[in-house]
Amino acid sequence: MTYIIAGATGTTGRAIATELARTDKVHLIGRDESALTELANHLDSSYSLIDIENPIPVKEFQQTVEIDEIKGLVNCIGSIYLRPLHGSTIEDFNNVVNTNLFSSFYLLSAFARRMKNGSAIFFSSVAATKGLSNHELISAAKAGIEGMARSAAASYAKDNLRVNVIAPSIMDTNMSAKILSSEAAVEMSKSMHPIPKIGDISDILPVVTWLLSSESKWITGQTIHVDGGFSTLKPR
Ligand SMILES: NC(=O)c1ccc[n+]([C@@H]2O[C@H](COP(=O)([O-])OP(=O)(O)OC[C@H]3O[C@@H](n4cnc5c(N)ncnc54)[C@H](OP(=O)(O)O)[C@@H]3O)[C@@H](O)[C@H]2O)c1
Repeated sequence: MTYIIAGATGTTGRAIATELARTDKVHLIGRDESALTELANHLDSSYSLIDIENPIPVKEFQQTVEIDEIKGLVNCIGSIYLRPLHGSTIEDFNNVVNTNLFSSFYLLSAFARRMKNGSAIFFSSVAATKGLSNHELISAAKAGIEGMARSAAASYAKDNLRVNVIAPSIMDTNMSAKILSSEAAVEMSKSMHPIPKIGDISDILPVVTWLLSSESKWITGQTIHVDGGFSTLKPR
């Protein structure tokens, strides 16, 4: 059985693929051909190339993945976008929705029917739950992922395909490098969290492996907040 990891050349995707490849087969999905082939060679895995801004028809894409039984799908394709509504264009909105929400739709619609007894995981963000200024576009896209995942969890429960979402707060990855580029910004971000730290892959990886495993066999349609309490708690 094989796991599909999309956004495999990003920080989170690469770490998940590397961990899973220690014991299982992985199929990598990404848009950067040279980074993807390098990682696929390193992990001895297969891969499919896709730029979600310019996707091929789902049926054609399905055929690039020559796996009968897919055990898990993890979509790490995503973006960050921090600008107010009045400073954003329709193109900005479309890009954010496309990268985050459409990628999740595209991948699940491509593979759900080959995922009996499987587990699909999508990434949302704390911004889908908590009203943070200048996060309107990313909040809309990530909240859409949470809604779509709940409905898909209901649709595919008959196949024992579980669909869950992980909603992190700010993590130390490629995506947040600019935001966390100064010591002051790091300290400010830490202090906003009841457990005052920046997230990293060690916070995410155990949740991913648990959601993919049979230990979470009765968990579906859930959004798991991995955020040091930021979405729900008020620090003293
Ligand atoms: N980092 C945070 O603070 C944070 C907080 C909350 C939620 N998240 C979510 O966590 C998930 C993982 O992100 P990360 O932090 O690991 O960031 P990352 O390292 O930037 O990974 C994002 C991935 O998305 C891929 N991608 C972006 N646009 C794409 C497109 N048009 N077509 C195909 N692939 C595309 C990137 O491809 P390339 O490798 O080619 O660039 C990269 O592999 C994302 O859904 C993100 O929104 C992150």
